[in-house]
Amino acid sequence: MPAYSEKVMDHFTNPRNVGEIEDPSGVGTVGNAKCGDIMRMYLDIDDNGIIQEAKFKTFGCGAAIATSSMATELVRGRTVQEALEVTNKAVMEALDGLPPVKVHCSLLAEEAIHAALWDYAERNHIEIQGLEKPKADISEEPIGDD
Ligand code: FES
Repeated sequence: MPAYSEKVMDHFTNPRNVGEIEDPSGVGTVGNAKCGDIMRMYLDIDDNGIIQEAKFKTFGCGAAIATSSMATELVRGRTVQEALEVTNKAVMEALDGLPPVKVHCSLLAEEAIHAALWDYAERNHIEIQGLEKPKADISEEPIGDD
């Protein structure tokens, strides 16, 4: 059995910011066709471009739940530009690591944030520097050897 850090176990058993935001500034859904897991991320962004609230719903494995929980914690209070720095690596570091076979699960969180930011940018006709059009399905790209 892969060893999970205490932080992963904590965010898995007690995930933060689960739910939906009514009337969100941006919402993004991504899935991984390989494992069938799906994550939806909601963002509430104020007029200054600061993320006031982030919520998620994840239909997926424990690592996907823990990473989405941590990702929402990390993007709150940040600008949309700063939120791009919340990469899957940053999320994994904040969780004290993930077993190698679970690294792809953290990509779901990163892509879900990007998809929600993309939606926000489209709604407001703005461009977020460095943000690329999100993939609907993260397994479009080869991930690991599994
Ligand atoms: Fe699918 Fe973790 S196994 S996201």
